Amino acid sequence: MPVTVLIGAQWGDEGKGRVADWLAEQSDAMARYAGGDNAGHTVRVGARRFGLHLVPSGIIHPHLTCILGSAMVINPLRLVEELDMLVGQGVDVSSTRIHISPRAHVITPAHIALDGASERALGSGSIGTTQRGIGPAYSAKAERTGILTGMMADPDAFVDAVRAQIEQANRVLVDIYGLEPIDAEDSMAQYYEAAQRLAPYLHNTTEVVHALLDAGKRLLCEGAQGTLLDIDHGHYPFVTSSSATVGGAITGLGFGPQEVDRVVAVSKAYCTRVGNGPFPTELDDEVGQRLREVGSEYGTTTGRPRRCGWLDAVALRYAVRVNGVTELVLTKLDVLSGMDTLHIATAYDTPQGRVTTLPLDTAATDEVVPVYETLPGWQTEITRLRRFRDLPTNAQRYVERVEALAGAPVSVISVGPEREQAIVR
Ligand code: GDP
Ligand code: IMO
Ligand code: MG
Repeated sequence: MPVTVLIGAQWGDEGKGRVADWLAEQSDAMARYAGGDNAGHTVRVGARRFGLHLVPSGIIHPHLTCILGSAMVINPLRLVEELDMLVGQGVDVSSTRIHISPRAHVITPAHIALDGASERALGSGSIGTTQRGIGPAYSAKAERTGILTGMMADPDAFVDAVRAQIEQANRVLVDIYGLEPIDAEDSMAQYYEAAQRLAPYLHNTTEVVHALLDAGKRLLCEGAQGTLLDIDHGHYPFVTSSSATVGGAITGLGFGPQEVDRVVAVSKAYCTRVGNGPFPTELDDEVGQRLREVGSEYGTTTGRPRRCGWLDAVALRYAVRVNGVTELVLTKLDVLSGMDTLHIATAYDTPQGRVTTLPLDTAATDEVVPVYETLPGWQTEITRLRRFRDLPTNAQRYVERVEALAGAPVSVISVGPEREQAIVR
């Protein structure tokens, strides 16, 4: 059973990229299974900082094979940019180590324009998307009008398909949204070049995955987004358009569930969310502001300030159950240092009474009042500590309380953004 699935336990940006970077040491291959360049995964290695959106974070480890799976949506221009960025940092991006599924879907300028138009039309009810064209690309996939990455093997046919899709989208942009049409010719040369550049990476990723598994190799599936942004398990419509939970790895890459022996969920020691939708423990005060500043809580993809709040154990327990989590990685514990008291939501008060499970209804979740357990904080810096027993007693208690409330063991605690700033238990 050689597969580890790494998922976000909250609303994204939990630190999956840096955890994938650790787990890379124990893996032979790493695959992204869902989403697109709405993801922003940061890996810091000394003075070098990698911001990855499409390529698995493991790429910076020379021994790893990297896979972009079928359930992804890929903006070819952004992927080329990312490959160039990696080349600039001295990373090997040859087509013998990166495999792109020909069955992923292509994000076109039409999708990006439609994403923006839809968000503007929703006004105050907007989702707060990353405006990367994710929703429209997955809509086209579900409508069966999407463009497969496999088409890039024939750049002429590919740009014809992109052009036709832009013409179609222009009717919607003009007639429904009352906007200016987009000029298809603006980006055609870039799409043509991107297709030529990416075609050598198109491989049968199902065969690549199974050849690895047959050879007893270990595969790490690097999730994007988080459980509460999952299209089926988050608070619809304030979700992304893909399966960010463990099942997404299985459908996105094509193997059986018995292959999975580890489900690692990443959670911050508090909560953040970027974009709109329910966030029961959000803090609209100076404590929230402090978490944002000390934790540098600004989006990797869009630069937007993240909404910040206390750890929500109701939501975390939900993530543990929905994904069958076998271990938790708790990130950003260092950000809580210096606070007098800490709070963890253990239940919600609702008009129907107190509940300890996450309501599925979006409007109802917006109305809940969190019930907090208060824990004493710690005043000392913890970023240089590497052993659990060296942590201040109150920090140890906080971690132990998180695992008891979440119902899963915390195997690693991260105490800073650098590769070595971790406490392995
Ligand atoms: P991802 O989308 O889940 O990969 O997470 P992001 O990379 O978008 O956001 C996580 C941010 O937190 C990045 O800037 C990381 O460098 C940073 N980070 C990760 N772990 C820690 C930690 O333990 N402490 C601190 N202070 N920063 C961390
Ligand atoms: P990583 O992988 C945080 C959020 C957006 C918005 C909603 C829908 O870095 O954790 P979309 O553009 O997907 O249609 O937006 O989902 N969102 C993320 N938030 N981290 C991400 O990815 C996200 N990907 C999407 O902010 O609320
Ligand atoms: Mg991110």
